[in-house]
Amino acid sequence: MAKVIELKNINKDYMTGEDITEKVLKNISFSVESGEFLSIMGPSGSGKSTCMNIIGCLDSATSGSYYLSGKDVFKMTSNELAYIRNKTIGFVFQGFNLLAKRNLIDNVSMPLVYRGVKKKERQEIATEFLSKVNLKGYEKYLPTQLSGGMKQRVAIARAIASSPEIILADEPTGNLDSKTSFEILKLFQELNSTMGITVIMITHEAEIAETTNRTVYIKDGKIEYDKKLS
Ligand SMILES: Nc1ncnc2c1ncn2[C@@H]1O[C@H](COP(=O)(O)OP(=O)(O)OP(=O)(O)O)[C@@H](O)[C@H]1O
Ligand SMILES: [Mg+2]
Repeated sequence: MAKVIELKNINKDYMTGEDITEKVLKNISFSVESGEFLSIMGPSGSGKSTCMNIIGCLDSATSGSYYLSGKDVFKMTSNELAYIRNKTIGFVFQGFNLLAKRNLIDNVSMPLVYRGVKKKERQEIATEFLSKVNLKGYEKYLPTQLSGGMKQRVAIARAIASSPEIILADEPTGNLDSKTSFEILKLFQELNSTMGITVIMITHEAEIAETTNRTVYIKDGKIEYDKKLS
């Protein structure tokens, strides 16, 4: 199996005062193979989102190395980064991050605009992916007309519409009740098993991490364990 993500000795410091640096990530090293479904778990403030932002090329580390699909991320220009991020990664967030005044077709097809896909094709792709997340018939709805679980399904359709290799989901069920949460988790499992998408999900809940195949546990910015579940 090919490694899609390879983090080596990643450190992240934040300046929190004039002479104060806070070490948020400390020597984080782990790799992810293509097709894995894994969770990054840890208590609040442990550094999960910081780690995800680095994996998602939204932030850079203070030191260490990061290879994404075999390419050295820290050597890329900002244009190269934007390109590889758009091509390789689909993001899903706790707060859904949908455009409130745009219908579902527009929301799902937004990443395709940046890829230069023509309008008609974008609409076809968006319709297809909305139906993959069981939202057929809702194409013209606005996000405000949907429940939380439906909103998250729109966000997932948007994440997968550009055929990413990897989905990065930061607390994707954090705003959902437990029944809806498990529907969303099942959807991630399906995307992973039927489409082969590598899914990395951040959570602070063991019950949610258990739905994945491997858990990397971060505490105080360090990996405490990295465990495959069978
Ligand atoms: N931009 C920043 N500047 C300074 N400190 C930051 C910044 N972003 C995060 N931190 C600090 O880094 C630490 C880790 O934050 P992070 O958001 O990665 O935690 P988390 O594990 O995602 O927590 P949560 O479960 O609450 O989302 C925290 O102590 C936080 O205060
Ligand atoms: Mg977080």
